[in-house]
Amino acid sequence: MFYELAVSTWGKEEIEAIQRVITSGRFTIGAHVGAFEDAFAAYHNRKYAVMVNSGSSANLLSVAALFYKKDRPLKRGDEVIVPAISWATTYHPLQQYGLTMKIVDVELETINIDARQLENAIGPRTRVIVGVSILGNPAALDVIRRFADERGLYFIEDNCESMDAELCGRKAGTFGHLSTFSSFFSHHISTMEGGMVTTDDRELFELVKCMRAHGWVRDLPPDSAIYDGREDDFYEAYRFILPGYNVRPLEMSGAIGLEQLRKLPKMTDERRKNWSRFVKLFSGDNRFIIQRENGKSSAFSFTIVLNPEAGLSRPKIMKALKEADIGYRLITGGCITRHDVIRYYEHECLDTLPNANLVHDHGFFVGNHPFDLSPQIDRLREVLDRAAR
Ligand SMILES: Cc1ncc(COP(=O)(O)O)c(C=O)c1O
Repeated sequence: MFYELAVSTWGKEEIEAIQRVITSGRFTIGAHVGAFEDAFAAYHNRKYAVMVNSGSSANLLSVAALFYKKDRPLKRGDEVIVPAISWATTYHPLQQYGLTMKIVDVELETINIDARQLENAIGPRTRVIVGVSILGNPAALDVIRRFADERGLYFIEDNCESMDAELCGRKAGTFGHLSTFSSFFSHHISTMEGGMVTTDDRELFELVKCMRAHGWVRDLPPDSAIYDGREDDFYEAYRFILPGYNVRPLEMSGAIGLEQLRKLPKMTDERRKNWSRFVKLFSGDNRFIIQRENGKSSAFSFTIVLNPEAGLSRPKIMKALKEADIGYRLITGGCITRHDVIRYYEHECLDTLPNANLVHDHGFFVGNHPFDLSPQIDRLREVLDRAAR
């Protein structure tokens, strides 16, 4: 394809890493995953990182952990504020744990939650805010965290689309009480499937670690904050304290992750160079609304919302892209209320979600990759310019 939505970011280092794990004969979670977690936590200047088998599992464990905190645990029926645009598995765990969602519109320019609406969204049962940085562009994470802290709310930061983005001199994925990442194919780094939870809170770290593997105590330190160790090894090896899961990653994914993390800064640089070219070509053309950068985007992809005032037809644009062999797709998961699954969510929308609906009906994104895409971006510009006349 001339311009793909997603490409592999692997080189021979990742293949060699897989081979080393195969040769070792140990495939289940072990030293490679541990080393990757340590490196990932250090890269983000976070105290703790726990690897799991997907970003979706990272979100699931983040919600789950808050239900088992000693102080002020979440309870079924509590309320959570969420943005109208994200991926489906940002929301599913909230439904599965019996939380009621208050859905808030996004800003049209950033496609991230409109933080100015938080004050209106908060109610007596609000306990959590989920903040999502869409496609590399940091949400108002500093504002959300401050708002949450001032009101005693938990902040779950879904950073599955924005690894290596920055805001206020900090990496995205360091603002939440719990922050989640995905290393699925096509994301900033790829470990085949994979996810990570980061936190600075020792109790949350242990809860996530325990629930990652069966809810047993085996992976917890002897001076654990969440259970009292006993002497008897026979029972200790099979002691279950929480209703957990098995969402452990494979050792291969840890080994690949180490290689990919080493390459991440360079890959982000390349993505940002492409982003600058895209912005230069498209800004100032009010037929196309492109994402306004907040802080430093890690440029997952390039979003375009067709300005409704320009009267453009998305099907016509899609046809032109298809003919030019340029991949495109819906922005993240579009507006969550437009999906059939919404019927299962206890939810309320703050308003009619005009921006999220506009993005759903008039938006799309094309890929960005960690190498020079000048010919592809230039061609995109030509194709869109012609199709939009
Ligand atoms: C915002 C967001 N959250 C969560 C996920 C889930 O990640 P995964 O595909 O690794 O399960 C994604 C996936 O792309 C995502 O975009």
